[in-house]
Amino acid sequence: MNLDFSQIVPYIPFMLKGIWVTLKFVFFSISVGFALGILIALCKITKVRFLKWLADAYTSIFRGTPLILQLMIIYYAVPQLFDYDISAFLSAILAFGLNSAAYVSEIIRAGILAVDRGQVEAAQALGVPYPKMMLHIILPQAFKNILPALMNEFITLTKESAIVSVIGYLDIMRRAQIVGSRIFHNFEPLLFAGVIYWVMVFLLTQIGKYMERRLRQSD
Ligand code: ARG
Repeated sequence: MNLDFSQIVPYIPFMLKGIWVTLKFVFFSISVGFALGILIALCKITKVRFLKWLADAYTSIFRGTPLILQLMIIYYAVPQLFDYDISAFLSAILAFGLNSAAYVSEIIRAGILAVDRGQVEAAQALGVPYPKMMLHIILPQAFKNILPALMNEFITLTKESAIVSVIGYLDIMRRAQIVGSRIFHNFEPLLFAGVIYWVMVFLLTQIGKYMERRLRQSD
C-alpha cells in the first residue's frame, strides 16, 4: 500500500476551482433545460397533433441516447457543419440543456396535469385567455408540486457533469485527472474529487429538503 495524500496538497486550490467551473455550466444548463422544458411540456399537452408528435419525438431522442454521445456530437459536429469553433463550455451547456429539457418537460407535463381540472374550468368560465391562464394560474401551482423533482434534476446534472471532462472542459473530474498525471498517482486526486462531488450533492439535497419543508408549510 502506498498512499500519499501530501502530494495533492499543492493542487488543492486548482481542484477546488473546479467546483465553480462545474457549477457555472450546470446552472446555465438547468436554466436552458427549464425554459425549453416548459415549452416542450406545453406542446405535449396541446391538442395540436403535430406539436405533440414533435415534442414526443424530441423527448424520445434525448432520453433514448447517451448524454455523453450528445455532448460529443455537439462538440465535434458544430465545427464540421457550421465552421464555427464551438467552445467546450458552450457545448456542455447545449448538450446538458437540451438533454435536461427532455426530462424536465416530462416533470412539468405531469405537474400541469396534476393541477386540479377545476382551475382550468374556472379560468375558462371567467374568460381568462390561455397564455394568461397558463402563466398566472396553472404554471405557478404546477411549479410548486414539481420543485423537488426539479431539484433532483439539478443534482443529476451536477453528477453527470463529470462527463464534460471528455471534451477537455476543466471541471472537477478533468482537474483530478490532470493532477493524477502530474504526481503519477491517480487514486488520491480521484478520491478527493469524489469527496468534492459528494459534498456538493449533499448540500444540494439539503437545500432541496429545506425548500420542500417550506412549501409544505404554506399548504
Ligand atoms: N447517464 C444518463 C445518460 O447518459 C444521464 C441522463 C441525464 N439525466 C437527466 N435527468 N438529465 O443518458
